[in-house]
Amino acid sequence: MRIAMIGTGYVGLVSGTCFADFGHHVTCVDKDQGKIDGLLAGRMPIWEPGLDALVKQNVDRGRLEFTTDLGAAVKGADAVFIAVGTPTRRGDGHADLSYVYAAVKELAHTLDHPVVVVTKSTVPVGTGDEIARILKEEGAPEGTTVASNPEFLREGAAISDFKHPDRILVGAEDERSREVLAEIYRPLFLNKAPLLFTSRRTSELTKYAANAFLAMKISFINEMADLCEAVGADVQELARGIGLDNRIGAKFLHAGPGYGGSCFPKDTLALLKTAEQYDVQQRIVSMVVEVNDTRKKAMADRVSDALGGDLAGKSVGVLGLTFKPNTDDMRDAPSIPLIEKLVAGGAKVTAYDPVGREQAEPLLPAITYADKPEQVADGADALVIVTEWDEFRALDLKDLKARMKGDWLIDLRNIYDRADAERAGLHYRGIGRPGSQA
Ligand code: UDX
Repeated sequence: MRIAMIGTGYVGLVSGTCFADFGHHVTCVDKDQGKIDGLLAGRMPIWEPGLDALVKQNVDRGRLEFTTDLGAAVKGADAVFIAVGTPTRRGDGHADLSYVYAAVKELAHTLDHPVVVVTKSTVPVGTGDEIARILKEEGAPEGTTVASNPEFLREGAAISDFKHPDRILVGAEDERSREVLAEIYRPLFLNKAPLLFTSRRTSELTKYAANAFLAMKISFINEMADLCEAVGADVQELARGIGLDNRIGAKFLHAGPGYGGSCFPKDTLALLKTAEQYDVQQRIVSMVVEVNDTRKKAMADRVSDALGGDLAGKSVGVLGLTFKPNTDDMRDAPSIPLIEKLVAGGAKVTAYDPVGREQAEPLLPAITYADKPEQVADGADALVIVTEWDEFRALDLKDLKARMKGDWLIDLRNIYDRADAERAGLHYRGIGRPGSQA
């Protein structure tokens, strides 16, 4: 199959590269000349493990191309995927669809044969209908159809998520779209990945429902963690105790500083906006958002409580800035409200992140950036683990303690054991574990 992928952001680049790796011919197109020049020179615009090698392999085999020329990209294409950004619209929480619609208009004027237009971007229910309307209005070739095919990729594990999906979801209203998408994904369902066909609207909404449900699991376990702290129970054991029940499932039950990233915060808000538009209550999702926002803002209090309630003049070392490991993404990262509050309280913050520094610096300008994890301990009153990067899992705690002025280890990801920390002479506060209460 010949595929054009509009947008070389996270979703477009990973999806396009993986499609090429299945053996399809893929042309990725982007308006950003710098990005395309970088890709042609082998430079990735995002940090994703394994992506650069996979791009190179497929470029070398002549299956993956990059261009800024939409006409060239869609020439002879069977399917055109739209993978441009749908950020939260400033001020109102709606998904901003202006990039999607602009791409569709341009596409309508460029196509010289019918194609299946597929939305990969996360788009509110009804967007496919609007795309179909625009294509018709702008004179796209007769027979051009519109399908929805949401992605379920986790940053940092996107390639493996793409190649080993739990399911592939296709929302379509016509046979041609179903046939083309079935052919594109054939290599995967030979591997037994379930291919689920639904209506276009159902598919669009399913993506939001999936992210809202996962966000709900996280907010649920985070509130359970608070209760565990109050009653002296252990949230990790509790999570295992409920997670072994197949009906609940063990994943997404790690208590922590609250969820961040490019999807959960944006998609839960957009889902609420859709519900509002249709005048349907979504009290659970609404509460999930509120619980998460409150939680992220409350994390600094754990540090301040440990330091006797006053942050002025205190020195705090922060390990991890990105919203999760194996990405340089800082969008809605819990580190941001945490550090802002520490700084506002008068603390001096030194932070280390294995890859997030460049993205973090403009967002968190008032702190010092260390080059090595141990450096954040130098002279610190407290250390805070915010992101569970592997390289933080086996730090020499005795060495850290020796470098510190104070002795607090505040572990917002529960990657250390209290006993180990105490053996190194540290005071330990985790999340939802005995002794973690204020
Ligand atoms: C998510 C979805 O997993 C993916 O299917 C979707 O398409 C895009 O959004 P991503 O945002 O990359 O992917 O990361 P994910 O691993 O889901 O983590 C999101 C946030 O939740 C992170 O801040 C993470 O730290 C937090 N989280 C996740 C928890 O706090 N606890 C958990 O148990 C799991």
